[in-house]
Amino acid sequence: MTLNLPTPLVTQSLLLATPEDTDWLGQILGESLSIESTGGVIYLQGELGAGKTSLVRALLRSCGVQGRIKSPSYALLETYKVSSLYFYHLDFYRFKNPQEWEEAGFRDLFHHNAVVLIEWPEKAEGLLPQPDLLINMLYEGERRIVKIGAYTQRGVACVNHLNLRRKI
Ligand SMILES: Nc1ncnc2c1ncn2[C@@H]1O[C@H](COP(=O)(O)OP(=O)(O)OP(=O)(O)O)[C@@H](O)[C@H]1O
Ligand SMILES: [Mg+2]
Repeated sequence: MTLNLPTPLVTQSLLLATPEDTDWLGQILGESLSIESTGGVIYLQGELGAGKTSLVRALLRSCGVQGRIKSPSYALLETYKVSSLYFYHLDFYRFKNPQEWEEAGFRDLFHHNAVVLIEWPEKAEGLLPQPDLLINMLYEGERRIVKIGAYTQRGVACVNHLNLRRKI
């Protein structure tokens, strides 16, 4: 299953040597989303245990989400709200076919004041709205390499912000 995305406007790769580095990246991306305080769509790819949920947790924390942040691997969707902004954390790993996405009614989640974070987007192949960012996490021994692609100007702004704050 592939995503069939266009060529990204900007790409960026980073080595995440420790889980703290993954948290750092999530925090920076969250900051960048909070600055504009409008919605966005982020796809997260990578094998089981690569760090997608860890990254999203740190992102949500830095956007002001409090309390427990559960992995959506069983419920498929976890919802949070901070002031007027909604955060929808989705995980499509358990989808058997892409049509389940339509049937679950998830299309309605993509509105202008929603940040939609999707693990395993390839399981809904081609049915999803285009992302602002695609984040791909790859194993590098015990460490991770993250590859980020920006597909919209909003995504490019996130990558620029990341480069300004970069320490790794
Ligand atoms: N940069 C890193 N280096 C080493 N370990 C890391 C790094 N980032 C995260 N980890 C660890 O890898 C694991 C990632 O688990 P996580 O649940 O976030 O993965 P996931 O990609 O969401 O998996 P799934 O596909 O099952 O949802 C955690 O144990 C975390 O501590
Ligand atoms: Mg996960």
